[in-house]
Amino acid sequence: MLPDNRYLIAFESSCDDTAVAIIDNKGNILADVVQSQVAPHAQFGGVVPEIASRHHLIQISQLTKEAFRVAKLSSADIGAVAATLGPGLIGSLLVGAQFAKGMAQSLEVPFIGVHHIEGHVLSSSNLPGFPKPPFIALIASGGHSALYCIQDPFKIACIGETLDDAAGEAFDKVARQLRLPYPGGKIIDELAEKGNPVRFKLPIALKSRASYDYSFSGLKTAARQLISGLQKEEVTIEGQVLYDLCASVRFAVVQALLNKAFLACKNLGVANLVLGGGVCANSLLRRESVEEGKKQNINVFLPPVHLCTDNAVMIALAALRRLQAEEVSSIQQSVSANLSLSSAINFPHI
Ligand code: KG4
Ligand code: ZN
Repeated sequence: MLPDNRYLIAFESSCDDTAVAIIDNKGNILADVVQSQVAPHAQFGGVVPEIASRHHLIQISQLTKEAFRVAKLSSADIGAVAATLGPGLIGSLLVGAQFAKGMAQSLEVPFIGVHHIEGHVLSSSNLPGFPKPPFIALIASGGHSALYCIQDPFKIACIGETLDDAAGEAFDKVARQLRLPYPGGKIIDELAEKGNPVRFKLPIALKSRASYDYSFSGLKTAARQLISGLQKEEVTIEGQVLYDLCASVRFAVVQALLNKAFLACKNLGVANLVLGGGVCANSLLRRESVEEGKKQNINVFLPPVHLCTDNAVMIALAALRRLQAEEVSSIQQSVSANLSLSSAINFPHI
C-alpha cells in the first residue's frame, strides 16, 4: 500500500511519446507531462524506432524534473515507481523501464511493471462514473484495435482484435495517400466534420462475422483504389471532395469499431463500455458511441481526449491498482515488445 504522504511516479515510453506522471494514493493527479515526438518522425510518415528511443533518452531526465516541479515534490516523497513493460518498441520501452527501475532501486521502493493496454483500459479509473467490472473496453490506437472483457476480481481477457492493421494505422495510411500530415487520424477527423460520410462507399470488414475481430487492411486498399480512380478521372482531391472522402473513411472505421463493441456487450450481457486509445479521441466515435449506448441501454464511459492518447497517468493508475492488490513486480521483469496480458498479470511478488 502507498501511505498518505507517499506518491507514485510512472513512466510511459512505449512508442513516440515520453510521459511522466505523479499521483497520490487515491489516484489524484499531481503531475501529467508528455513530450510528443511528432516533429522528428513526421518527414518519414510514421514512427522510426531508432529515432524514438534516442529522443526518449534525451528527454526523460528533464521531463522527470518537470514532473517533480509541477507536483511540488521531490524524489524523497516517492513511495513507488512504475513503467510500461510492453507491448511497444523495444528500444523505447527499455529507456523508460530502466530509468524507472534505477529510480526504484536507489529510493528502495517497489517497482511496478504495467502492460500498456491495461493502462489504456484504466486511463480514467480515478474519475467519477468509471464503471466497476464487469465492463467491455474498446482500445483503438495506432498500434492496437481490440476488445477486452474486464472481470471482477480484476482480470482482463482479450475477446477480439485486428487481424491486420490497427484503426489508427488505417487513418494514418489513408492520410499519407492523401498527402496529409502525420499522424493522420486527427486531421482526417477535422476534415471529415465538413464532409458527407455516404458519398463514397467503403467496406466495413467482418461486419457479418460472428466474432469480435477487426480488419482494416481492406478499407485501406479500397481507399487507395478510390483515390487513384479519382486521380485518373482528373478529379482534384481538395475542398468538398477531400472532406467527403475523409468523412467516408471515418464513417467506415467508426462503424466497424462500434458494431463489434456493442455486439460484445449484448452477447456477453455486459452493460458498461469503456473507450481508450488515441482513436477514441475521434469526434464521430465519441458522438456515435454515446448515441448507440442510449439506444441499447449501455453506459458508455469516454475518457477525456488527452487521456485517450498515450500518457503516463494511465500507467500510474494501473500501477496503483496493482499496488493495492499487492501485485508488485520483480526488478528482474524485463520489457517485451509483445508482452502478453497474462504474463503482465502474473508478476512475481518481491
Ligand atoms: O494511443 P496513441 O496515442 O498511440 C498508440 O498507442 O498508438 O494513438 C495514436 C493514434 C494515431 O494513429 C492517430 O492517428 C490516432 O491515434 N488519432 C486519431 C485521432 N487522434 C489521434 N484517430 C482518429 N481521430 C482522432 N481525433
Ligand atoms: Zn497506446
